[in-house]
Amino acid sequence: MPDGSQSKARIAVFISGTGTNMAALLYASRLKDAAFEIVLVASNVEGAEGLTLARTEGLATFTHSHKGITREEQDAAMEAAAVEAGADYIVLAGYMRILSQGFVERWEGRMLNIHPSLLPKYKGLNTFARAIESGDSHAGSSVHIVTHELDAGEVLAQVKVAIAADDTAESLAARVKIAEHQLYPRAVADYVSRGNDPDHLYARLRELALALPETHEKTSHGSPGFRVGTVKSGKFFAHFSQMHHGSQHIAVLVKTSSMDELLALVETQPETYYKPDYYGASGWVGVILNRPGLDWDHVQDWLMRSWREVAPARLTKLHDAADMF
Ligand code: GRF
Repeated sequence: MPDGSQSKARIAVFISGTGTNMAALLYASRLKDAAFEIVLVASNVEGAEGLTLARTEGLATFTHSHKGITREEQDAAMEAAAVEAGADYIVLAGYMRILSQGFVERWEGRMLNIHPSLLPKYKGLNTFARAIESGDSHAGSSVHIVTHELDAGEVLAQVKVAIAADDTAESLAARVKIAEHQLYPRAVADYVSRGNDPDHLYARLRELALALPETHEKTSHGSPGFRVGTVKSGKFFAHFSQMHHGSQHIAVLVKTSSMDELLALVETQPETYYKPDYYGASGWVGVILNRPGLDWDHVQDWLMRSWREVAPARLTKLHDAADMF
């Protein structure tokens, strides 16, 4: 997804109230090299304060009251507005609604929320009073991926805020807000840019590669890769390539069955495949990872194929037998 040379990620921000986090996102999006832009501010509350600011700043807005309709109807209206605006991501910023399951599922991995506690502590409401009552030394805020369970999706980033002896829920809330305004734009930018982040891509690849039988990680010519077999005599089935030899690609190199196949892939799908220097000559194809719409299932299929190409027969046989069940 977006980096300096590519287009920005398009986000729709959903609010119900003051919208100060939305404002923080907005002004961050106007800084040089911002990774995202706000294409819509949508609310379930007609008079939400944040909408006025959004309009003043020339952002597109949408409101749809949830009163007197079902949760699904409300979600459908908000979702349609986000889709219409061309949003890649939905960013919840004080959107005080529980979302219907279908809506959450359709945006899985593309919807974020900010919650004013150090998750997994204090899901739900009244987080500041609960942190003070428990005698915690710190409160804070968390940015997480939205899943069907409230405030329980993967935490992407957190910021801590010290609790003072004389803090009330209100005074603490005010400081946590300031901290949130630093946290949310950064966390959203990192998240939408992860498709260009070699560390993130390598971590995903590593997980998939090492899930295959009898595999281990090994460096070769300065690049990490994965082998099947014993640590002593295993064979490589995948190499990670990070912008090698002037190439802009972050890729995994996997073994094709023939040079004809390699050349056909590169010719018909140049946005997905390329012939790498050096390894290309012996039938390895580059599967590009830093591209929009990357499908990890597809990467996994390639890892499996490549693993089969080089794995010893005793392992592929076992695997074939397991496949029959
Ligand atoms: C924030 O504290 C956020 O953590 C919570 O709702 C509040 C929204 O505040 N989910 P604002 O509308 O962004 O000022």
